Amino acid sequence: MRITVFGAAGSAGSRIVTEALLRGHEVTAVVRNEASFAQLPNKAQQRQGDASRIEDVIALSKGQDLVIAATRPAEGQEKELINISQSLLTGLAKTQVRLIAVGGAGSLNVGDKKSTLVVDDTRYVSPAWRDIAVACVDQYEVYKAETRVNWTYLSPPAMLLPGERTAQFRLGKDELLVDQQGQSKISYEDLAVALIDEAEQSNFPQQRFTLAY
Ligand SMILES: NC(=O)c1ccc[n+]([C@@H]2O[C@H](COP(=O)([O-])OP(=O)(O)OC[C@H]3O[C@@H](n4cnc5c(N)ncnc54)[C@H](OP(=O)(O)O)[C@@H]3O)[C@@H](O)[C@H]2O)c1
Repeated sequence: MRITVFGAAGSAGSRIVTEALLRGHEVTAVVRNEASFAQLPNKAQQRQGDASRIEDVIALSKGQDLVIAATRPAEGQEKELINISQSLLTGLAKTQVRLIAVGGAGSLNVGDKKSTLVVDDTRYVSPAWRDIAVACVDQYEVYKAETRVNWTYLSPPAMLLPGERTAQFRLGKDELLVDQQGQSKISYEDLAVALIDEAEQSNFPQQRFTLAY
């Protein structure tokens, strides 16, 4: 597949680029600043672009099979997530290219009655993470309302950490996945495996899915 990755030098984006190249996909790796080209693998095509600019989304998605968004705004600019999502969806509505977005855990359901959102559960979201978690809840609302684009929204578990590629994890839909020790976690490497699995298999069109060990 021909795949464009926005946020290609980020923690999630860089693992996603690596996983896609490993499986033989043609990857266009997009960073906002050309200084980040040095962090990208040589096998990827390197492009400069900003996901919040509709014209960049159009130019960098034309002729591609899939766009992957792994962007995260700087601290204090969490609401920018909404602008980026709207820009991606508006641009891709024009080019009719499929989108998989790395989102947040905040909008997943948790608790016995599944009536609480992760964002409101301090076991998983400490005050320091609340702003980004709230922004991710709003971001997911933008996706749920989207009918023009074939999108998939991947909610990580509560903890997303550098680690190993095991390719062993569980998938779920709208509920936070928690292990027997009460932990909800995945490595960035395995998130990339699940995301490229979805790229290849399209199991969740216009839906959200999640994963965890
Ligand atoms: N448990 C959870 O729910 C959880 C945990 C961690 C992350 N996440 C989500 O996972 C996603 C990826 O996070 P991460 O940990 O990989 O973050 P990261 O390491 O900070 O990387 C984010 C990347 O996004 C890029 N970026 C920001 N705004 C952009 C824009 N307008 N256009 C293009 N690129 C842009 C940044 O590039 P620059 O270098 O140019 O700034 C950076 O490379 C985010 O959506 C984040 O909310 C969720």
